[in-house]
Amino acid sequence: MAILEIKKAGDPVLKQVAVPVERLTKWHRQLLDDMAETMYAANGVGLAAPQVGRSLRIVVIDVEDANGLIELVNPIITMRDGSEVGSEGCLSVPQVYGDVERAARVTVEYTDRRSRRRTLTAEGLLARCIQHECDHLDGRLFIDIAVSLRKEEAKE
Ligand code: NI
Repeated sequence: MAILEIKKAGDPVLKQVAVPVERLTKWHRQLLDDMAETMYAANGVGLAAPQVGRSLRIVVIDVEDANGLIELVNPIITMRDGSEVGSEGCLSVPQVYGDVERAARVTVEYTDRRSRRRTLTAEGLLARCIQHECDHLDGRLFIDIAVSLRKEEAKE
């Protein structure tokens, strides 16, 4: 396992539309491991592969609920329901937070690390996080769509 460098806003990789994974290999499973380690080390709740400089449709999420670590390869949001404004931040945009309108509930289809296609329906923070991370795969940052932004100094 390795901690990867997190790319910051302004890096062109964050603006690219990421490429689907055609055949999941040991290399991708290593990337999933490294992304999870990187996310936990940075105290994040989600990380998308473009944020570590790999323009691939891969996401890891852990919002500290019963789901634990979720690994999404080639995720597609197939259902969005309701609407909710909530606060977001991003490891690629340090110390900036903003209110973003998202669907309150989503269903996402994805491939897991064993190449099985799966479906997950989520609400609340997990739904928000899925939408935030899937946006990264299309080159979109939360600061592009936030209804308000604020800067906070690093806390002690
Ligand atoms: Ni982000």
